[in-house]
Amino acid sequence: MKTYFAFVLSVFVIISSISLFAQEAESDTSQGIVPFKVIAQEFTSTLQGILMSELKKGGPEAAVAVCSDTAQKLTAVIGEKYNVEIRRISLKYRNPKNAPRNDEEINLLKKMESEQSNASNPADEPAIKKFKSEEKMNRDKRFFTAPIKIGAPCLQCHGGEDQINLETLRKINSVYPNDKARGYKSGDFRGAVVIERK
Ligand code: HEC
Repeated sequence: MKTYFAFVLSVFVIISSISLFAQEAESDTSQGIVPFKVIAQEFTSTLQGILMSELKKGGPEAAVAVCSDTAQKLTAVIGEKYNVEIRRISLKYRNPKNAPRNDEEINLLKKMESEQSNASNPADEPAIKKFKSEEKMNRDKRFFTAPIKIGAPCLQCHGGEDQINLETLRKINSVYPNDKARGYKSGDFRGAVVIERK
């Protein structure tokens, strides 16, 4: 009974937070300001959707092209749509275009990384909590970041060299001779999505 009650309660909490979020998004859009979080979600879910379908279709060796072409194109398309500059940044970047631009970004990435690795439960990670509490306040600010983590499918291109197949490794090496974005494990902090209003 207790578990049933907890289940109903959690479903209710999830539904009400989704509708709250939808309301916020709606009222902001009507004023012409789309919240950073909505933009970040559209970007990451579109990119991940394309990546996953390409991985299914042609394996990692074919999907590498999607990552290199689509990721850069998508940042331009979404940027134009919302009048923002959107980037993915990482301390261990594959494409030098995705390197952090200044000390502020480097320090932020370092902080997000150390806070994440100290937390046993991902929901308790200070960087993520901070990100959640700031997202509302942050809506009109210039700068926004969301953490990106490594999941199992990412290892085919970002894992150890024994986890990346030979053809994929060759393609990555030819396009990104100074690649730093390998050797990751599941759950590792990978980088952040940065959005700035123009
Ligand atoms: C099919 C191979 C492949 C897979 C699978 C893949 N990536 Fe990548 N990833 C790449 C390539 C290639 C780039 C360089 C993209 C560019 O040129 O902007 C990249 C770049 C990135 C970047 C931008 C920073 C950088 O290093 O340049 C992030 C962040 C990232 N990937 C995260 C992920 C995450 C998280 C996953 C799993 C959900 C994932 N990737 C799965 C190939 C892959």
